[in-house]
Parts: sequence; C-alpha cells; structure tokens
Amino acid sequence: MSLPHNAATRVLRLIEPESAHHIALWGLRAGLGTRARADKYPRLKASLAGLDLPNPIGLAAGFDKNAAAPDALLAAGFGFVECGTVTPLPQPGNDKPRLFRLSEDRAVINRLGFNNEGVVAFADRLAARAGKPGIVGANVGANKESADRPADYVRGMGQVWKHASYVTANISSPNTPGLRGLQERGALEDLLGRMREARALLTAAHGHRPLFLKVAPDLDDAAVRDIAELAIAYELDALIVSNTTLQRPPQLTSDNGEEAGGLSGQPLFQLSTQILRLFAQALNGRLPLIGVGGVDNGLTALAKIKAGASAVQLYTSMVFAGPSLPAQILSELDALLAAEGFDSIAEAVGAGLR
Ligand SMILES: Cc1cc2nc3c(=O)[nH]c(=O)nc-3n(C[C@H](O)[C@H](O)[C@H](O)COP(=O)(O)O)c2cc1C
Repeated sequence: MSLPHNAATRVLRLIEPESAHHIALWGLRAGLGTRARADKYPRLKASLAGLDLPNPIGLAAGFDKNAAAPDALLAAGFGFVECGTVTPLPQPGNDKPRLFRLSEDRAVINRLGFNNEGVVAFADRLAARAGKPGIVGANVGANKESADRPADYVRGMGQVWKHASYVTANISSPNTPGLRGLQERGALEDLLGRMREARALLTAAHGHRPLFLKVAPDLDDAAVRDIAELAIAYELDALIVSNTTLQRPPQLTSDNGEEAGGLSGQPLFQLSTQILRLFAQALNGRLPLIGVGGVDNGLTALAKIKAGASAVQLYTSMVFAGPSLPAQILSELDALLAAEGFDSIAEAVGAGLR
C-alpha cells in the first residue's frame, strides 16, 4: 500500500494544514494508515523510566490531542504514543488560521493554544482501550482561563492516571500566555510540590505511573540547572526536551517564518539537541531524558540518543513524510547502530557526551 499512502500524504500537503491534520487522523482511525511492527528490531528495544519500549521512537504530544487514535498510531510502528495536551475543561484554542507549514524549511509554526475536548472525553477514550497493548502516555496542561493552573495539572493527573502508561505535565507551550512562567524556580517548586502530593494518593489508589515534565528549548544554563535539580528533588521520572521554540533561526526561508507561535521541525533540531545536552550534563545520569525536536530520520534520532536521550519523539516530520516514517526511521536507526558497533540503544545513550 506504499503508493496510496505516499500519494495521500502529498495530497494532504496541498490542503490547509489544520484540515489536513483532521483528515489524516480520520484516516488513521478508519484503519487506512501504514502498518509496521514496532518490535521488528531486537537491537532497538529500549527502557525508559521503567517502561519497556519495543523501540525508542515515540509520537510527540499534539498530534493526537484527544486520544482519538493511539492504537492506529502505535500500529504505524511507534514505540510509544503521547496523547494530549488535554486540559480539564474543553477549550477552542486560538483563532484560525493558527497552524502554518514552512515547507521549504521542513518546519511548522503553530499557535493552536491547547484546543481540545477536555479531560473527561480524553479519559473515557483511554478507558475504552484498557487492556490493549502499547505504551500510551497522557500529556496534561492548564486551561487558558484557569485561576489556579497547578490545580489544573492535578485535576488532569487525577482523570488520566488509571489508564495512562505515563503522565506528562506540559509547562512549555508558548501559546497559552504565562504558561512557560511555570518553569521558573518558585512557580515550579509550587507546581511540583502539589503534583507530588497528588501522585502519592493516585499511586496508592491505582498504582505507579512514571511522571514526566516537558520543557521549552528557550532556557538559559541557570534555568536548565534549576529545573534539573527540582526534577530530582520532586522525584520526577524523566524530562522531555523539548517543546517548540519562540526563536526564529536565521536560516528560515519560508514566507510563513514571521508567523507568531512555536516553531518545530528541522530548524529546531540543533537548538533542542543543545538544550538536551545541557540537561544530560546537569543530570549526569540521575534522570532519563526524552529528546524531541527536528527528528526526521535515523541519523537525527541517533544524534538525540548520543546527546543523552533514552528515547525520542517526533511530530513535524510526520507532516511532511506521512505515516510510513516510523518504519523508515527504525530501519535506518537499526543499521546505524550496527554500523557503529552498538548492540543496544542503552549502549548508545549519552555516547556523545563521554
Ligand atoms: C501542530 C503542533 C501541535 C503541538 N501541540 C502540542 C501539545 O499539545 N502539547 C505538547 O506538549 N507539545 C505540542 N507540540 C510540540 C511537539 O510535541 C514537539 O515537542 C515539537 O513539535 C518538537 O518536535 P518536532 O520538531 O518533531 O515537531 C505541538 C507541535 C506541533 C507542530
């Protein structure tokens, strides 16, 4: 079925991007997606904060905000799928247009603003797939109008905990005014303290879940060190590095490069990998990392792993390459590991730091 899939991806690229995304999700749910075995390559088995992954290539948050199609996405070959960001209450997000392709730059700018159907519908969908195999994480956030944002994260955790393989607190979207302020030391201590309290109760009721924090790439060295120390102090299980950037690297050539919002894709690769490396150095093996930003082939995936990531995620490259991408990356990554003499992902993690 490779011809129809490639053709479908090309056609979707001609359509207004948000509509194209909805059509792609609909197609996946209808079973029209590519199928690939996530566990085809024994060398690619990975371990992340106690989760056994069939491979380290995950789908990043934002692609399936409402947990509409996690099983179809797993069937495309992803080692894990992160659904969300979901907020306690449904919300429409920002005015359209709010999603822009930068095709010449293999990039996207989005200012969606957490459009989603709310955590109750999200949790119902996760509950409906209970017992199915595959690692499906839930990424939670805060409503734009919330008077108490940390309380929103606690509410989200409470709703998704039972049926999520792991939970991520996303404090790094640039499209909810003030959200990134939660990354500052005082605000982060308050948030993580309240999350730790909630987690103890949820763990007692439903069992252990790894708890991750997703951060921005727009951080200085001191902020990286602060976040790393707090992540350990408050017993998080991993950091996801990174979300989209507000920076506009000078190499951008597309007309849409001036749009407001978060930039993702190829131009984010260097920046997000550099921040990943800083986190790896600050953490020195005390906490695993998930590397995100501009991963689009085996080489960029391996670069994240060598910079300290135990697993990686991608979103924007799927927009350009379509659902056959995970299978292609797995085959490339397996060949690269073999060529460089690595017998496992674990051996390659942080190899570029030593
Ligand atoms: C259209 C779009 C929507 C996104 N929505 C979310 C989101 O809801 N929550 C989140 O944590 N990250 C979101 N992201 C960020 C991605 O998960 C990822 O961190 C970022 O795009 C960098 O990876 P990439 O270069 O592979 O796309 C979104 C990205 C894009 C392009």
